[in-house]
Amino acid sequence: MANYNIYIKISKLIYKIVLAISALFFLTVYTFLQKQKLDYIQEPQFYCGTCMDEINNPSLNEINNPSLIKNVFGETLFKNNCAQCHNANASMLVGPGLAGIKERRDEEWLIKWIQNPQKVIQSGDKYAIKLFEKFNKTEMTAFTNFKEEEILAILEYIDEYNQSQKAIP
Ligand code: HEC
Repeated sequence: MANYNIYIKISKLIYKIVLAISALFFLTVYTFLQKQKLDYIQEPQFYCGTCMDEINNPSLNEINNPSLIKNVFGETLFKNNCAQCHNANASMLVGPGLAGIKERRDEEWLIKWIQNPQKVIQSGDKYAIKLFEKFNKTEMTAFTNFKEEEILAILEYIDEYNQSQKAIP
């Protein structure tokens, strides 16, 4: 009878230990998952410069960060045609950095220039000649078949890019 009592006590003890361990285990897993969920919410994911949350939920866009790049059309044109020679920020590459270009030159000039830089230089435009000489007469590619709206989209992208850089602390 005495032995029998000890067995009961031991099994009750083991039962309690198992219970405690599993409670601890579930608590750990639960806090871990909660933390993962928080991390997921707090760190926005980016896909090609566009916030993933915004792709999934476009209404977040305006509310959270109005300066995030939305002009994918201009961004693509810039990256495919201009980025090998120009940075969208102020630093020089083959040509000058294009930050603030809309303040330096008016739209009409920019459209003429991008469609045919050599034509603008040959027309005797002082600004163009000076720039051309500053860049050791490196010839910029002419984009004769670029339409006005394509050029405006590129310029818009450059502005948006620089605003989004300012928005990053
Ligand atoms: C092969 C290199 C090259 C490519 C490609 C190129 N550029 Fe240029 N760009 C230049 C150079 C070099 C200059 C400086 C002037 C010169 O030497 O003709 C310049 C000047 C400019 C300027 C005048 C900048 C200022 O500060 O006044 C603008 C605007 C410009 N480029 C826009 C563009 C855009 C938009 C594209 C794409 C559609 C583009 N460029 C593609 C080389 C390039």
